[in-house]
Amino acid sequence: MSGSDRARLSVSLVDVHKHYEPDFLMLARDFAALMLKKGYGRSEMIRDEARARRFYAVRYWTDAGCAEACHADPESQSLLAKLHQIAKVTHVVNGVHRPDAARLMLDDRRARIETDRRAGFERRAQKASRPEGERRVSRDRRIGPRRLRDRAGDVDLVGAARRAREHADAAFSKFKVGAALETADGTVVTGCNIENATYGLTICAERVAMFKALSEGHRLFTRIAIVADTQAPTPPCGACRQILWEFGGNIEVTLANLTDKKGTHQLKDLLPLPFDARLL
Ligand code: THU
Repeated sequence: MSGSDRARLSVSLVDVHKHYEPDFLMLARDFAALMLKKGYGRSEMIRDEARARRFYAVRYWTDAGCAEACHADPESQSLLAKLHQIAKVTHVVNGVHRPDAARLMLDDRRARIETDRRAGFERRAQKASRPEGERRVSRDRRIGPRRLRDRAGDVDLVGAARRAREHADAAFSKFKVGAALETADGTVVTGCNIENATYGLTICAERVAMFKALSEGHRLFTRIAIVADTQAPTPPCGACRQILWEFGGNIEVTLANLTDKKGTHQLKDLLPLPFDARLL
């Protein structure tokens, strides 16, 4: 894929309502066929292995004009209207209206990697989820200090990081850090630093949060808050910057202490000239 194509990538999270997966898969096929037939580009639907009925809709537009033409096309509008009746659609990357190159390149790379990671899963996808009867019905039971659910942007991320900091195990440095990472769907996953008698196996709050999130199936991130009990802000260490960049892309990084916010940065400014999978 060329650099210019990357700038025209759109990604949406699609959470299909219960019992509608077959209809959704048909719609997705029709939409992909429409995009090809009319030369708008290519559409790929990637199943999330960790969440039942969640898909990533990735569209590679031929050019920006094609994306606009597709949005205006009555045939595509009718398919999208049906989609919105049977699924919740969250636009994560709009390659046409928000061309943030660094972000798009990472999303593009991740979308392609996801396809590979999911290849094994796709083969056994038919019966991968729990029976519906066993699924948790109420979202409320997930709400707690470490896992909050809300709309992206509405969450008190710094508050969550302050609470997470309380769990830090910093017996050697006495320097407690908390982090709260927000995913694209508004889930908050927290972390704290955990030290160890060999010192070197210590892991920072930010990486704990990211690895927890990844291990729970999250793949798209928007923001992280980092809290320590100091006047000067505590920015993430080099190792954490690398991990946050590779898995989170150009996320927003808010630094705070127990009482105040100390600044907000974009990760690309904290990690200029990064090394990542694009260079392999
Ligand atoms: N630490 C973090 O958890 N995050 C940071 O951003 C900076 C440092 C931890 C690692 C170690 O447990 C302690 O703080 C002192 O370096």
